[in-house]
Amino acid sequence: MEPGDKVENFRLLDQKGGSHELFYYDDQKALIFLVQGNGCPIVRHAAARFQELKDIYKDQEVEFFMINSNLQDNRLTIREEAKEYNYDLRILVDDSQIIGESLKLSRTGEVFIINPKNWSVAYIGAIDDRLTYENQKEKASKHFLKDAIDDLLKDRSVSVPRTESLGCLINFPNKAEKQLISYVDDVAPILVENCTVCHREGGVGPWVMSDHKMVKGFSLMMREVVRTKRMPPWHADPLIGEYSNDRSLNAEEVKTLVHWIEAGAKRGDGPDPLKQVKLSTSVWANEEELGPPDYVIEIPSTDVPATGVVDYKYQYVKNSVGKDIWVKATEIVPGDRQVLHHVITSFGPTETRGPRKGKLKFRERKGLRGYAPGINSNPFPDNSGTFLPADATFEFQMHYTPVGRATVDSTKMGIWVADEKPEHEIFSMIMLNPRIRIPAGAKEHKESVSRAVSKDSLLYSVLPHAHYRGKKMVVAAYYPDGRTEILLSVPNYDFNWQTSYDFQEPKFIPAGTTLIQHQWWDNSAQNKANPDPTIEVTWGDQSFEEMLFGAYMMRVLKEEEVPYYRNLVSKN
Ligand code: HEC
Repeated sequence: MEPGDKVENFRLLDQKGGSHELFYYDDQKALIFLVQGNGCPIVRHAAARFQELKDIYKDQEVEFFMINSNLQDNRLTIREEAKEYNYDLRILVDDSQIIGESLKLSRTGEVFIINPKNWSVAYIGAIDDRLTYENQKEKASKHFLKDAIDDLLKDRSVSVPRTESLGCLINFPNKAEKQLISYVDDVAPILVENCTVCHREGGVGPWVMSDHKMVKGFSLMMREVVRTKRMPPWHADPLIGEYSNDRSLNAEEVKTLVHWIEAGAKRGDGPDPLKQVKLSTSVWANEEELGPPDYVIEIPSTDVPATGVVDYKYQYVKNSVGKDIWVKATEIVPGDRQVLHHVITSFGPTETRGPRKGKLKFRERKGLRGYAPGINSNPFPDNSGTFLPADATFEFQMHYTPVGRATVDSTKMGIWVADEKPEHEIFSMIMLNPRIRIPAGAKEHKESVSRAVSKDSLLYSVLPHAHYRGKKMVVAAYYPDGRTEILLSVPNYDFNWQTSYDFQEPKFIPAGTTLIQHQWWDNSAQNKANPDPTIEVTWGDQSFEEMLFGAYMMRVLKEEEVPYYRNLVSKN
C-alpha cells in the first residue's frame, strides 16, 4: 500500500462481534488503522500511543480501528490479546485474509490513514520515531501520524505521507496458489452449495449461475458482494450458535472464491458442475414427502410496479378451511419469486373495534412459517403441530422489491393437516415492544423486550424482525440457575432478508428462564436505507415505521422428557 492508492469497500466483524463496513464511515474526516497482530512486541508498544491519539481526537470526526489479517490469529485469541494488553479499540478481524491482501498490508505495527473523501490512502508508516527494534527512545521527536491527522483535519494535503515502520511481517501464503484453484473442483462446488438455491432459473436471485461463462461475467461483482458480506445473505455471528439453515461461506471458501476471481476466473478442464444443477419440478417443496397440500389459501393478488419502493403490504385473509384443524406443515409459494422478498405469517382473532379494527389482536397472534428465500417449509419437528381454529384470520406481511418490470404477484399458502392430534403442540412465542422511540439521527439506538418462560420448553428457531432502520440484534437467555447464554447475534441486520435462524439442536429453555431480545436501530443519514433521518420513529406496521419483534418457535416439554434435557445441560 502506498499513499494515493485507492481502497475498495469491505465489511468485517470486530473481536467482539460488531460489524463494520468501511464505506459506512463516509461522514468522517479520517479513518485510522493500526495493523494488529498477536504476539508482536512492536504492536504492543505502538498500541498505547495509538490509543492516546484516539482519546486526543475524540469528537473530531476521526475513527480509530485496528485490523488483524494474520493467518495464525482468530477472533477468540485476538479477544484474549486485547484483554491482556488493554486494547480499548475495535479490532477488525480479516479471517480470510482477502482484505489485508488487497490493502497490501505487509507488517503489523504499521499505521495507515484512509481519507473517506476519496477513499485513498493518505498516510502509511510509523506512528512516530520513538520505536526501533529492541530499542525505544524516551520520547518521540517526530509525530508522523499525528501530523498527518492534523493535515487532514485542516483540509491540507499530508506533508509526510510515507515513513518506514517496523513490525512483524504478515504471511499471506495462499496468494501464490491463486493460479492453481480449479473451477470444476474448488469453485463450482461452493457455488452449487451456497448460491444456486437462489441464483437459478425461477429462483429469487437476479441472475442465473447457469455456467462458467455467466459466473465469469459476474465474477468482479461476486468478489464485491463477498467482500462486503452482502452475499450469501446470512447475518448471524458465526461464533454464536449453530443453525441448520446457515448459508454463510466460511473463511476458506471466501478465500478460494476471491482468489480464483483475482486470478482471472479461469475455466480449466472437466465438465461444468453448474450445468448439472437439478431443478425440482413440483410447485410445493413438501410435495415429495407429504403429497399435495390439504388446503390452499390464496392471498389476494398485488400489483408490483417496475421501479420504486413498495411499502410493506398487510393482507388479512379469513381462514377458509371451515373447521378446527391441527397443522403439521405450511408452505408459501410465491407468485413471482423475483419481486416477493418475504412473507411473515401470523394468525389469530382480529380487533373488532377502534383504529386497529380488522387487524390481529396484538397479544393473541400466533405465528406460522413465513416465506423468505431459503426459509425451510419442512413439517414441524418432533411430531408436533399447531392448532388452527376455524374462525382465525391470517395476516400476511408481504414485502415486495421491484425488479425493473411491472408484474402481478399471486402468492398462496398450502396447509397440510395432521391426521390426529400431534404429540406436541408447536407455537410461536411472539416478543414485541410497541413502546419503542428511536430518536432522529441516532446512529445506534437500543431497546429491548423480555419475556419469562413459565414451562420447561424447547426452542427451535428465532426470527428477529425490524424494518429499514434495523441495525443489529442479540437474543439472550437468563437461566434460573444464574447462567446466561447468548442464543443469537445478528450484527448486521438487513431488512431485505427475513431469516428464521433454525437451531441445529433445539435449545432447552427451563421454566423460569427469561428470554431477552435486544435490538439496535440506525436512524442516521449514514444508514442508506433510512427513509428519513430527521424524525423520531415509533412502532408501526409500515417499513418507514419500526418494530421490535421476534417470533420464537417453541414447544412445551412433557414432564417425562424434562430429565433428559436437564441432564444434557448439567453435562455441559
Ligand atoms: C437466499 C438467496 C440467495 C443466495 C443463497 C445467494 N444470493 Fe446472490 N442475490 C440474491 C438476491 C435476491 C439478489 C438481488 C438483491 C440483492 O442484491 O440483495 C442477489 C444478488 C447477487 C449479486 C448481484 C449484486 C447486485 O446487486 O448487483 C451477486 C454478484 C450475487 N448475488 C452473488 C451471490 C453469490 C456468489 C452467492 C453464493 C456465495 C449468492 N449470491 C447467494 C439472492 C441470493
